[in-house]
Amino acid sequence: MTNHVIHRNGHPFVHYSASIHTPEEVIYTSAAFYQRMNQRRSLRDFTDESIPREVIENIIRTASTAPSGANKQPWTFCVVSNPETKKEIRLAAEKEEYESYTQRMSNEWLRDIEPLQTDWQKPFLETAPYLIVVFKQVYELKPDGTKGNHYYVNESVGIACGFLLAAIHQVGLAALTHTPSPMNFLSQLLHRPENERPYLLIPVGYAAPDALVPDLKRKPLSEVSVWY
Ligand SMILES: Cc1cc2nc3c(=O)[nH]c(=O)nc-3n(C[C@H](O)[C@H](O)[C@H](O)COP(=O)(O)O)c2cc1C
Repeated sequence: MTNHVIHRNGHPFVHYSASIHTPEEVIYTSAAFYQRMNQRRSLRDFTDESIPREVIENIIRTASTAPSGANKQPWTFCVVSNPETKKEIRLAAEKEEYESYTQRMSNEWLRDIEPLQTDWQKPFLETAPYLIVVFKQVYELKPDGTKGNHYYVNESVGIACGFLLAAIHQVGLAALTHTPSPMNFLSQLLHRPENERPYLLIPVGYAAPDALVPDLKRKPLSEVSVWY
């Protein structure tokens, strides 16, 4: 299909160009994609092996293909590889996490995360070669300083982060979805503008050869789906 522009009420449209598969191919591809994604795990043990910048750029490009409310694409992916900045982030995150683990988390919460065997210490924030700090843009800040609306920001940025995690996994790298709470320190450390709020902190790297992950079970299809 050629990609020439067709106008609708003066607005440019192009033909949908994603490839279409036979029903057999759809079945095979859906099963293969599930098998692949089912191997994704949250990792807390990385090597310090470097990763070409181009890989991270492609992963972020992939995340940025996500749908978003009114196509506002209300996300900023900050990429940190500088060792001093990673150290600053680790120290600030550990300060918050120490408070959370010793004061802020409820007993139920602590019981719920016990199988993960995590604690306030986050060495992976320095070991992983990259930290991708995802910010949501709660509104648009135009170059002239005026504001514009963004819509369904949490949903949009959540989907983009899902794409990001899928892309990281697809290329054979590992990541952790990390939420040192509260995360405001990231806005200050990375000098983010007033319209941005930290959303997720995602270390990315190669898995350490001896890395362990908790033996968690995923809910079966029957528990997570209802068919009408
Ligand atoms: C929104 C969100 C926040 C999370 N925050 C943390 C965190 O701060 N620290 C951590 O070790 N894991 C965190 N996780 C990872 C979860 O513990 C993990 O996804 C869950 O145990 C399932 O394991 P899996 O990702 O390996 O399937 C978070 C996950 C999500 C989706």
